[in-house]
Amino acid sequence: MKQIFIVANWKANNILVKEWVERFEVQIANLDSLNNKKVIICPPFTLLSELRFLIHQRNLELQLGAQNISSFTPGPYTGEETAEMIKEFVQYVIIGHSERRAMGETEKGIDAKLKEAKKANIIPMLCVSKLEEIEAQHTNLQNDKRILVAFEPLQAIGSGNPDTPEHANDFAISVRKIVGDERNVLYGGSVKGDNVNLFTAQENINGVLVGGASLKADSFIEIIKNS
Ligand code: PGA
Repeated sequence: MKQIFIVANWKANNILVKEWVERFEVQIANLDSLNNKKVIICPPFTLLSELRFLIHQRNLELQLGAQNISSFTPGPYTGEETAEMIKEFVQYVIIGHSERRAMGETEKGIDAKLKEAKKANIIPMLCVSKLEEIEAQHTNLQNDKRILVAFEPLQAIGSGNPDTPEHANDFAISVRKIVGDERNVLYGGSVKGDNVNLFTAQENINGVLVGGASLKADSFIEIIKNS
């Protein structure tokens, strides 16, 4: 059975973490088991500590990720959060999300972030919308087989119009041709409870990155259940 990653990206939303976790806990109890599913929550930095506490306290099968890290090593960089600083909180980090690329994130910056994550032993989830972005990080991908690739077509993000599962699968095949058959490739963009299975059923897709539908525990559980 292939491994499925279900990743929540809360973006810059101020979730009431305790309520979200309480609701999640009730709903997850109705599921038999997560089996082959790995569930990762990527909250804003400000919520990491509280979320980590609640996950441990309730013994939930959730892992944590950050939405970004600094491209710098620790030092005099006002306002930055380095990989070294967050490694005690997270196992994963989203790098190169298109919303950050739109704010000016460059391939050079992404390259530095991938290297910082590797040094801190944090697994990157590299978001791409085209194959050129895979080519640009080819060396990092070759050097770190654990990097997850998330294919997120720009027009599908937050629009309610997901890509077709077949096209997403074709993209994943192309990624694997470039950076290895074993590579885990996720799909992201308007994933919901009623379409997730179409993506996870594709042979070359190992999971989903979920924005809007992860903000409420109920809709996120629906995605886990149907994946
Ligand atoms: P969405 O966001 O699920 O709201 O489309 C996905 C993402 O940006 O990762």
